[in-house]
Amino acid sequence: MAPQHDTVLVVDFGAQYAQLIARRVREARVYSEIVPRSTPLAELLARRPRGIILSGGPASVHVDGAPSIDPAVYDAGVPILGICYGAQLVALQLDGEVQRTGGGEYGRTPMTRTDAASVLLADAPAERTVWMSHGDAITRAPSGSVVTARAPGAPVAAFEDRDRARYGVQFHPEVIHTERGADVFHAFLFDVCGCRPTWTHTSIIDEAIAAVRAQVGEARVVCGLSGGVDSAVAAALVHKTVGDQLTCVFVDTGLLRLGEADQVEETFRRQFQVDLVHVKAADRFLSALVGVTDPERKRKIIGETFIRVFEEVAADLADAPYLVQGTLYPDIVESGGADNATIKSHHNVGGLPDDMQFELVEPLRNLFKDEVRAIGEELGLPEEIVWRQPFPGPGLAVRIIGDVTPDRLETLRQADDVVTDEVRRAGLYRELWQSFAVLPAVRTVGVMGDGRTYEYPVVVRAVTSEDAMTADWARLPHELLERIASRIINEVPGVNRVAYDITSKPPGTIEWE
Ligand code: XMP
Repeated sequence: MAPQHDTVLVVDFGAQYAQLIARRVREARVYSEIVPRSTPLAELLARRPRGIILSGGPASVHVDGAPSIDPAVYDAGVPILGICYGAQLVALQLDGEVQRTGGGEYGRTPMTRTDAASVLLADAPAERTVWMSHGDAITRAPSGSVVTARAPGAPVAAFEDRDRARYGVQFHPEVIHTERGADVFHAFLFDVCGCRPTWTHTSIIDEAIAAVRAQVGEARVVCGLSGGVDSAVAAALVHKTVGDQLTCVFVDTGLLRLGEADQVEETFRRQFQVDLVHVKAADRFLSALVGVTDPERKRKIIGETFIRVFEEVAADLADAPYLVQGTLYPDIVESGGADNATIKSHHNVGGLPDDMQFELVEPLRNLFKDEVRAIGEELGLPEEIVWRQPFPGPGLAVRIIGDVTPDRLETLRQADDVVTDEVRRAGLYRELWQSFAVLPAVRTVGVMGDGRTYEYPVVVRAVTSEDAMTADWARLPHELLERIASRIINEVPGVNRVAYDITSKPPGTIEWE
């Protein structure tokens, strides 16, 4: 919680949209937190919110046990904005009407403003395209409110009770496909709630520094660096706070991408002058992986080896009571709310064992990924680290199908570097969730020069995604694919064919193993 900021709470009715709403609010520089819908009203109000947003959700307000909120919230003197399900809930609880009209709307929908005095839809042209996703529709606005917009399947696409500050929109202003969606949030946050826009990157950094300082005092701190953005930003923040008290540990598993270890050295040892322990453990990881082909066994072996290596280093750092982790806000929300400290094991950096007696320092636990990137840039981290695509903990081992050998690693590393380089040159690197190469365990026949070849294919995988739970294969331009293919075949020995994976998730996963 950031008590010095005006805060808007987003009550989560069970859609992924709650996180997007909170991000939009923060983009407007107003601090926002997601709260589970089970939070008692007294607790909500104790946080002294300037506004409360009721999020969308997958349920119908008419099913038994449909999620609800204590109706006393409407008389608590705090402005309310209901979005989609949230708007229907406001209507239902305040004497409006929600019906299954059979006219559900999904996707881009034209909407017409019907009240020129609307606060949330002020200034915009009367017609605009919004993103809808609803089966039920509000057929009568809550008592005391006026209908401010309609759409073909939504007679009440937006309503406002300006006297009592109760607002509702059937559409999703948080989704980029909604025209002028940000204006809806701005109007609510500033014109209705009177918030001050104090949630800036500078304030985020200052507060994180103050919190770390208060937590660790003069004690020593350890931070594991993975090469990824989260641990890098966490380390940079802690280093800015405690300087020499921090020791970073970077375990080079030998399963990283080309140039990654050098980048960590360059950034942390040379640029930031961090006390860096660089453990070159490739041999150890590779020996442990000899003959291992099963993906889950690979993961287990890599995880265990990582722990052993880290424990050995930590033995030398026994006087450091604190361990920095790059846990982010979505990890916390997804594991059951801000009060629940259990993190999905997936995100638990390095999967360190419980018996390591560290107290955790988590300077990013309030932040979304885009905020982490922004402050990473502000702290002077290089673009390559700040914008690095996600990379699995077990690294290239799960992109080499079958045996992981030094030769195959070298092949994949080079092919992967071509993919990254070309995707960057095409200006698509940041747009893609992940783009990489995979090395399957089959061989294919080809012809090069005047000879027949019998070598390995490389599979190129590129996906777009919001959160890795689902992903769509990326429609990369054919010219880009052609450049990638011809460069891989010309530059990477042992590869004679390139294929492009056009499987989305589901049914595929993003990684091949
Ligand atoms: P999948 O392949 O399950 O991947 O669609 C979803 C996201 O998770 C990453 N991933 C991992 N990350 N350890 C990790 O830290 C793992 O074992 C692992 N497996 C997959 C993957 O890169 C994608 O972003």
